[in-house]
This record gives sequence, C-alpha cells and structure tokens, in this order.
Amino acid sequence: MAQYDVIIIGGGPGGYNAAIRAGQLGLKVALVEGRATLGGTCLNVGCIPSKALLHASELYEMASKDFASLGIDVSPKLNLPQMMAQKSESVTALTKGIEFLMKKNKVEWLKGWGKIAGPGKVSVKAADGTETVHDAKDIVIATGSEPSGLPGVTVDNKRIVDSTGALAIPEVPKHLIVIGAGVIGLELGSVWRRLGAKVTVVEYLDRITPGMDTETATAFQKALTKQGMEFRLGAKVTGAKTSKTGVDLTYGPVAGGAAETISADYVLLAIGRRPYTEGLGLESVGVVPDKRGVIANDHFKTSAKGVWVIGDVTSGPMLAHKAEDEAVACIELIAGKAGHVNYDIIPGVIYTFPEVATVGKTEEELKAAGVAYKVGKFPFLANSRAKVNHEAEGFVKILADAKTDRILGAHLIGPSVSEMIAEYAVAMEFSASSEDVARTCHPHPTRSEALRQAAMGVEGWTMQA
Ligand code: FAD
Ligand code: NAI
Repeated sequence: MAQYDVIIIGGGPGGYNAAIRAGQLGLKVALVEGRATLGGTCLNVGCIPSKALLHASELYEMASKDFASLGIDVSPKLNLPQMMAQKSESVTALTKGIEFLMKKNKVEWLKGWGKIAGPGKVSVKAADGTETVHDAKDIVIATGSEPSGLPGVTVDNKRIVDSTGALAIPEVPKHLIVIGAGVIGLELGSVWRRLGAKVTVVEYLDRITPGMDTETATAFQKALTKQGMEFRLGAKVTGAKTSKTGVDLTYGPVAGGAAETISADYVLLAIGRRPYTEGLGLESVGVVPDKRGVIANDHFKTSAKGVWVIGDVTSGPMLAHKAEDEAVACIELIAGKAGHVNYDIIPGVIYTFPEVATVGKTEEELKAAGVAYKVGKFPFLANSRAKVNHEAEGFVKILADAKTDRILGAHLIGPSVSEMIAEYAVAMEFSASSEDVARTCHPHPTRSEALRQAAMGVEGWTMQA
C-alpha cells in the first residue's frame, strides 16, 4: 500500500497532463491506466490516428486530382497497408513519448484498471488479476468517454464499425454509410471518400454539425457535397441487417413517411460519445453520475471531498485541449494555486478539406442572448496566398460587440484554418477589439491576412475585397 498526494485515474490528455503538472509542482503522484499504452482515446484511437489518415488521404487525393494542374504529372497508387503502418508508427512514437514524460516528471504509472474504494483509496487491478490498494489525499477522475450506441445498429467492428474500427478498415469500402454528420463522421467519411469510397451520410437533424455557426455549416456541407459526399438529412435510422459482405440500413424521414433501405459494405456509427464510468466505484464515495457524466459542482470538485473530475467524463466539449486545460487548472487548485479555465474561448476544429475552425459565440447564440454584434467577413478567394495555392475555398468571419468592438466569436472555413484560429483565441483571451487585430501588421502573402481583413470588415474598411 502506497501513499500519494494525488492519484489520477485515466491516462488520456486529461490524466497525463494532470500527472505532469502534479509532478512539476512537487506532488507525489500516480497515474492509473488499464490500456497497454498511455495517451487515452486521443493518442491511441482518436485525434492522432485520425489526423494521420486525414493527412495521408488528403495528399493522395491531391496527387490524384490536383498535381497535374500544377505541372506535376504523377500516377499515384494507393498502398493502404503502408498508410495504416505510418499511422501506427506515429501513434506508437507519441504514446512512448508520454511514457517518457511520466518518468521525467516522476509520475508512477500504476498499470491496471482503477476503482475508487472509499474516501482516499484507489484499488488497481492489473492484467494478471492482482489487486493493490493505494492511498491518496486527492483523487482525480479522468476516465474519458466511449462511443454512444444506437438500438438496432450493433457495432461488430467488422461491417458496422465505430470510430476505432473506421481507423482500421482493411480495404477501401465500395460504399460507406456514415450515421451521424458530426465531427467523427465527416472526418473519417472524408478519409475513405478520398481513398475511393462512395460515402453516404445519414443524419437525424436537418443540418450537419449541430451547434456550429449556421452560415459556416451550410458552406461546409456545400463543400463536402461538391467533393461527392452524399447527405440524407432529417433521417431516422430504424435498423441494420448485417451479412458477411455488407449491411442493409433502414431509415425513414424523421417527419414521418416511407422507410428506405440502402446497402453498403461498411457502416460507421458516429452519433456522439458518452462519459465512461464503468466499474469506477463512484458509489463508494457517494458520487452519482448523470447523462453528462460525473458532475463537478465547483471547479472540478465532485460532491465527494477530495474527488475531482476533468475531461470527457464530465460536462463541456469532448475535446483533448479542453481536457488538458482542465487538468492543469485542477492540479493547480489541488496544490493551492489559482487554476482557471476560460470556457468561452475553447476552439473547435474539424480537420477535413476545407477545414473548419471556430471559437467563441455563433451568430445564433448572440441573437438568442440579445447581444448587438457586428460581422466582418473575408473570402479566401480574395487572399493572394490562397489564390496562388489554388485553394481559395471558404471564408473568415468575425463577430464583434456592436458597442465595445470586443471580439465575441470567429468562424473560419478553408485550408489551414486549424492553425489560424489560435490568433483569434489569443486576441479574445486578451479581450482584444476587432480593431486591435485590424491594426496589427500581418505578413504578406499569407492566409493570416484574411484574419486581419475580416477584422477590418467589422468597421467596413476591408482593403482587398
Ligand atoms: P480519454 O482520452 O478517453 O482517456 C481516458 C483514459 O482512461 C483511457 O485511456 C481509458 O483506458 C482510461 N480509463 C478509463 N477508465 C479507467 C479505469 N477505471 N482505470 C484506469 N484507466 C481507465 N479531440 C480533439 O481535441 N481534437 C481532435 O482532433 C480529436 N479527434 C478525435 C478523433 C476521434 C476518432 C475520437 C474518438 C476523438 C477525438 N477527439 C479529438 C476527442 C479526444 O480524443 C477526447 O476529447 C480526449 O481524448 C479526452 O481526453 P480524456 O483524458 O478526458 O479521456
Ligand atoms: P458529434 O456530437 O460531433 O456528432 C454526432 C452527430 O450524430 C450529430 O450531428 C447528431 O445530430 C447525429 N445523431 C445523433 N443521433 C443520431 C441518430 N440516431 N441518427 C443519425 N444521426 C444522429 O459526435 P461524434 O462525431 O460521434 O464525435 C464525438 C465527440 O468526439 C465530439 O464531441 C467531438 O468533440 C469529439 N471529436 C473531436 C474531433 C475534433 O476535434 N476534430 C474529431 C473527432 C471527434
């Protein structure tokens, strides 16, 4: 039995960043993780492998379709096993990197599945079945999330796959049906479409990417449709029949009407994720999770003294960087410092082509809150760098308070906007006005000039469009 200052349960972006910060602050810390590798969903079966496939498949499609117009004649041939292998190599390198960081920061990795065994106690069951109990002044729950299921659609990760299965389909599907027009469906649907699959997306709502600024979502759907992705919106899936070679999926209009059946060799179910608390022993400390997971009443504190919660397993956006920010703030509070997360400024990115990147409020949210705002908008069609690169799809839209000019939100669609959104996030963190960005010198020719031009647009003095 060992005594720790903090035991963290779960080795994903929430857990491993909490462990590093605890080590940095001189706390005696242990991290419990049952997977064979650290890094959680994000590194093992989420952010990292999906971005590896998005990058490779984007280059494959560019080489197939766009290189010739640049004067580069090539005949690319897909080597799917190699594409998968380079994905796995990246995952292995990064998960090993986390293991190194644990050692560097004197974090002890308790290998096995953790269970809260009463106030200040965590039991850990190793793969060989042995169980050890450890004491801690504070316990941080960082157990993440798992894919949500849908009655009548049984994931077997052969023909009906979840996101983990979709990262490892052994062949390019002839037809992939994606259930759910959210982040996972559109990213992984894009991967397989680029590699040659016909992709049909079946979505319950009458729009894609719910919660996203509507003008941006509409432009996004148009771009994906142009690439060949098909959408069946307002469609309720009622069942899926699997055979050895494929799946017959039945759905009907949500508004009522005749059911339809479509067939495909693979189906990806991606209708959201739910907090993961199985076997965690929450009852031993009187914590009762709800639909949003383990609830933090106040700054990551659960209803049980000394039990904290961060990341996907609690409320808020299920994003790696949100988990990471909560990890740092939570440990700083445990160490008696002033940890803080600004939930108004958490960027969200969809890594498709074009990419979509957003931060802050949408127009719909501002209207609903009765906030008077001004819009500045700039199309990449008028940005010289985007034009010379023949990648001029999309726009930058910035929303500023009509009275104070403070930036309230930004919504970007276009190539590389995942890298550009951080400029607006930093500006917002410093409570910048749109004029602050408009009067900041930006390098030419870069896509970042579109950020400035959109900010100029708030007061109507855009120069390049
Ligand atoms: P997790 O990463 O889920 O880690 C939790 C860990 O806890 C897991 O390793 C699990 O094994 C372990 N665990 C659970 N219970 C126990 C227990 N009792 N004992 C021991 N260990 C336990 N987010 C982004 O920001 N950007 C992206 O590009 C992105 N892409 C994604 C792509 C996909 C396909 C998916 C599925 C998700 C993606 N996400 C992305 C979301 C991101 O992965 C999560 O938001 C993030 O991993 C949450 O971190 P976490 O630490 O809260 O939980
Ligand atoms: P999501 O919440 O993004 O999208 C789910 C979609 O499925 C929604 O459009 C929803 O309306 C739809 N849906 C729900 N029930 C349905 C039904 N019965 N039939 C048809 N459609 C239905 O969830 P997703 O894509 O599964 O992703 C889960 C989480 O992972 C997200 O919260 C996201 O934040 C995170 N993630 C983040 C990424 C990123 O940051 N780039 C990449 C991938 C995942």
